[in-house]
Amino acid sequence: MKLVEPSLKSSPISTFNIERIRSDFPILKLTINDKPLVYLDNAASSQMPQLVIDRLVRYQATQHANINRAVHYLSEIATSEYENARRKLQFFINAQEDREIIFTSGATDAINLVAHGYGRKFIGAGDEIILTTLEHHSNIVPWQMLADERGAKIRVAPINDKGELIIDAYERLFNQHTKFVSMTHVSNALGTINPIKKMIRFAHACGVPVMIDGAQSAPHIKIDVQDLDCDFYTFSGHKLCGPTGIGVLYGKAELLERMQPFKGGGDMIISVTFEKTTYNTIPHKFEAGTPPIAAAIALGAAIDYLSTIGMNAIAAHELDLLNYATEQINYIPGVRIIGNATEKVAVLSFVIDGIHPHDIGTLLNQEGIAVRTGHHCAQPVMQYFKVPATSRASFAFYNNMTEVDALIAGIRNVQEVFL
Ligand code: ALA
Repeated sequence: MKLVEPSLKSSPISTFNIERIRSDFPILKLTINDKPLVYLDNAASSQMPQLVIDRLVRYQATQHANINRAVHYLSEIATSEYENARRKLQFFINAQEDREIIFTSGATDAINLVAHGYGRKFIGAGDEIILTTLEHHSNIVPWQMLADERGAKIRVAPINDKGELIIDAYERLFNQHTKFVSMTHVSNALGTINPIKKMIRFAHACGVPVMIDGAQSAPHIKIDVQDLDCDFYTFSGHKLCGPTGIGVLYGKAELLERMQPFKGGGDMIISVTFEKTTYNTIPHKFEAGTPPIAAAIALGAAIDYLSTIGMNAIAAHELDLLNYATEQINYIPGVRIIGNATEKVAVLSFVIDGIHPHDIGTLLNQEGIAVRTGHHCAQPVMQYFKVPATSRASFAFYNNMTEVDALIAGIRNVQEVFL
């Protein structure tokens, strides 16, 4: 099916009303340790507006049945709402056809699907797969598993001290053995935005398909897969104000059609005998078993919500937060930001001289401030910067400047306690 307007038309709010937006999120009213919650762990998982919570409840209370399996009323409603959610996702990333949207359990599941479905069929002994130093473990390990199985080799594009990819070095990795590129759009540990359009164009000029891990970009940047011309793009619902257990794999139809399924089971077949199984068409070929129906429908509601605010308005507000927080942190002696790329989303990884990141996280939590501490499932990035871990504040569009001030006061308090 060709691109259609979603049922709920996007009408960006003319002014970004942060307090009105905050009032949509019940969790932001919590107090933690008698302090107002300051939730700055959005790169790990974002929060859900009431409207999405309500959509989940309405589905479960009035619409739930299994999909694609029966002619009764509830099954037809559930099937139609599930497919409607698929079209909302199609529109959100400007995919050409709704059958190019595969529902998965998350970005990790989608990368594994491509590593198995594409990699096992088209990558063999002596072939090379290009990744980058900025990858999350979920975009490293599946390819290592594939490379071990097939006798293929992983090549890694390096970064500079700002945490940016070195594009010349990336381009020099290509040779006649290069068969696939899989890279992140945005680094979860540093916030770096990679120039993927240019990198995809280069790979395509060498005849190499490209998968983009968009887990950290789709919540912050307007995505247009046709403009990027990527072959695969993936992201998770729970980082996009949706539920856990749902994610999206976009793939160009002609590639998805040539791939083998990753999981076998109900719904992904046309016919089964003990001698032979004929697989279903896309997207069903890749959606074996009962999918997370409620989660997909709620993700559709989250997409409606984000589209109403407008991704460009979201990006502009988050950039204001990033600039203000960066300026304030740079002003504190003994605090160092890890990752200073020119193009960044609102992620601030930092270390404080003489204080372990876990102690920073624990003390900030006492002030009601939620940040992530650790290696962020990106150990190669930590190895490059020669730190075992960082503290990471990651912002969403519902954060405000008062929360940046709380973070800065929290960091100063940590220094006073420990130094
Ligand atoms: N990948 C998520 C993060 O960066 C979990 O925190």
